[in-house]
Amino acid sequence: MERALIILKPDAVQRGLIGPILTRIEQRGLKLQGLKLMQVDEALARRHYAEHEGKGFFGSLVDYITSAPVVVAVVGGKTGTVEMVRAMVGATNPAKAAPGTIRGDFGVEIGRNLIHASDSPESGERETAIFFQPAELITDWPRVSDPWIYE
Ligand SMILES: Nc1ncnc2c1ncn2[C@@H]1O[C@H](COP(=O)(O)OP(=O)(O)OP(=O)(O)O)[C@@H](O)[C@H]1O
Ligand SMILES: [Mg+2]
Repeated sequence: MERALIILKPDAVQRGLIGPILTRIEQRGLKLQGLKLMQVDEALARRHYAEHEGKGFFGSLVDYITSAPVVVAVVGGKTGTVEMVRAMVGATNPAKAAPGTIRGDFGVEIGRNLIHASDSPESGERETAIFFQPAELITDWPRVSDPWIYE
């Protein structure tokens, strides 16, 4: 089992795209373990994006993610879930993201790319622990559709 943290960034929330983006996750058959609306503060933004500290875009990235509320979600499932979510999200730069991906269908610029998704199972665990208390997550709940999605 593995999980990915997803952040619907401020532009996705402001543009009314929470529903359309989460719909894609649900329609795929992926399963939520946690979901909430929140305001990211500077300390949290810097911690989440620590790997990018020192890069030219770091300041604007922190400004962007802290500029308005976001929706954070944890998606859990079998091995391969993180890779599946990344494929649905598409290339970092929406201008180069394939049609059919979230960034390729909804965005045009790298600084407004709508969504974050963990890039590995290890990142998924690290980022989930940053954004959610254990009590906020439901890690193993039976879903009536599970047998129709997982063989
Ligand atoms: N060259 C750049 N110019 C402006 N912003 C950038 C640039 N590269 C990355 N970013 C911003 O920093 C975020 C993190 O970059 P990263 O390389 O981790 O891409 P990603 O993994 O596709 O995106 P994310 O981590 O948000 O899911 C990007 O989503 C984008 O918002
Ligand atoms: Mg990344």
